[in-house]
Amino acid sequence: MAIFIEILRTKNSDKQYFETFLYEPFGDGDTIATALKKLNEREELKDVDGKAAEKIEWECSCLQKKCGSCAMVINGRPRLACDAKISEFKGKVRVEPLKKFPVVCDLTVDRSILFANLKEMKSWVPDEKEAIINGKEIQYESSRCLQCGCCLEICPNFYSGGKFFGMAAGALTSRLISELPKGERDEIAKAYKKHFYAGCGKSLACKDVCPAGIDTEKLLVNSNAVAIWKRKSK
Ligand code: SF4
Ligand code: SF4
Ligand code: FES
Repeated sequence: MAIFIEILRTKNSDKQYFETFLYEPFGDGDTIATALKKLNEREELKDVDGKAAEKIEWECSCLQKKCGSCAMVINGRPRLACDAKISEFKGKVRVEPLKKFPVVCDLTVDRSILFANLKEMKSWVPDEKEAIINGKEIQYESSRCLQCGCCLEICPNFYSGGKFFGMAAGALTSRLISELPKGERDEIAKAYKKHFYAGCGKSLACKDVCPAGIDTEKLLVNSNAVAIWKRKSK
């Protein structure tokens, strides 16, 4: 069944505006990502009223729910476009860019703050050999983070440029907190306390929305125990 796709755009404009396209899915597996690709492949892209339209700017890479680059707001919920089946929507769907990041154009946003925040937290192991693998379950959960930003979109306490870095930073940092031996994790524990623990209201909205299905509750419980209460990692 054909669907109306309403897209919040900025192309060739200083202001955001909605433009609606009619799309006929090719099969049951069609997603919002498929639709965006197919619309852009049209020789002449026209809106629902037949008016000529510019190609839609958006980001994608893997199209397999693995890279996080196609995160956007679909019917009010942050999701991966390559994981949002057209068949879920009844004849009409609204697609918008993530709102917690600056819009570059149309559905493309600048998520560089994600990496700046990780850098600020020193959320990486300088030498892999320094890490002791003692928290396999936590490590696995943490490593599945796509840095898509969906958790930040839904988080009531995160805003770009703020001191609270949100679950995108909290999830990846939990690996280091779990792996580094006692005595070597003071710096990361301090950064975690400042940039995550102090700002997290534990509403767990991030858990409901994470497209990778990461158990963010498990990560924050373990990180709080280790970094704040100086207990052993699970
Ligand atoms: S925790 Fe989940 S929602 Fe947040 S950035 Fe990682 S994968 Fe995306
Ligand atoms: S538990 Fe709530 S406040 Fe904490 S990171 Fe998740 S959504 Fe944000
Ligand atoms: S394109 Fe990689 S997650 Fe959608």
